[in-house]
Amino acid sequence: MARIYHSRLVNASGIVDKAHKGKYAVGHFNINNLEWTKSLLEAAQASNTPIILGASEGAIKYMGGYKVVASLVNELLDALQITVPVALHLDHGQTVESCKKAIDAGFSSVMYDGSHHPFEENLSNTKEVLLYAKHYDVSVEAEIGTIGGEEDGVVGTGEIADPKEATIMVATGIDFLAAGIGNIHGPYPAGWKGLNFEALEQIQAAAKLGMVLHGGSGIPKEQVIHAISLGISKINVNTELQIAFAQATRKYIEAGKDLPENGKGFDPRKLLKPGCDAIKDTFNELTEWFGSKGKA
Ligand code: 13P
Repeated sequence: MARIYHSRLVNASGIVDKAHKGKYAVGHFNINNLEWTKSLLEAAQASNTPIILGASEGAIKYMGGYKVVASLVNELLDALQITVPVALHLDHGQTVESCKKAIDAGFSSVMYDGSHHPFEENLSNTKEVLLYAKHYDVSVEAEIGTIGGEEDGVVGTGEIADPKEATIMVATGIDFLAAGIGNIHGPYPAGWKGLNFEALEQIQAAAKLGMVLHGGSGIPKEQVIHAISLGISKINVNTELQIAFAQATRKYIEAGKDLPENGKGFDPRKLLKPGCDAIKDTFNELTEWFGSKGKA
């Protein structure tokens, strides 16, 4: 149970484990504000789908801090009468301290991303996070190898993970493992080689627990489905929702619907609605691919 005593959040361990056994993947969708959070929760509830809401350190800072984010999510769970399993997860926690802060604020799951440190340091910091997290029944994700691209100022070169490190990392008692397998944050560049399924198979054979695919935006459907069949049980999506939201908003503005001479379309509740609908459509399409739709 997360630290806010009345929280209806669940940790992500059970839902990812169930997905791993059932050969599907739970969607981790990054949140940026009220509209993102509300749209995703409504879409998850309407389709009876478990969901992990991810918040990066940058998004948390933008929204006003860990407590604001935990309160926003918890209050929406009550207000919207959400009954599907929802986990609130710190995405790419950069320090042990930031993981502890998230846990203290009521997050039900954290990722400690020590992938930019030497492996021994990554391992010992992950252990420290685990010790704190397990006391509050918070799930923990660790990372080996690195994810390519840039997210919130963190740049990865895309180093493929080593299966030996997977075995050692999993022995610490983590709940799920992120591994570099050729995946990249942000849009995939032309000429991208695709996911490295051979590496995924080797890491899964060593890890034997649910694995996380970061950079879930823009990977072709067949690759996503193949990756799930090889042990991917949590897929992180951020960019794709941002693009869908921006495109729908652009269309609305380019049609002049926000202009005062055309009515009250400048009201944020109207202005942001097409973007919110686009978030829901993207959620529905991707959870269909992931096989998690209706699995609450
Ligand atoms: P994308 O922005 O590429 O979807 O990646 C999201 C992610 O991996 C968050 O951890």
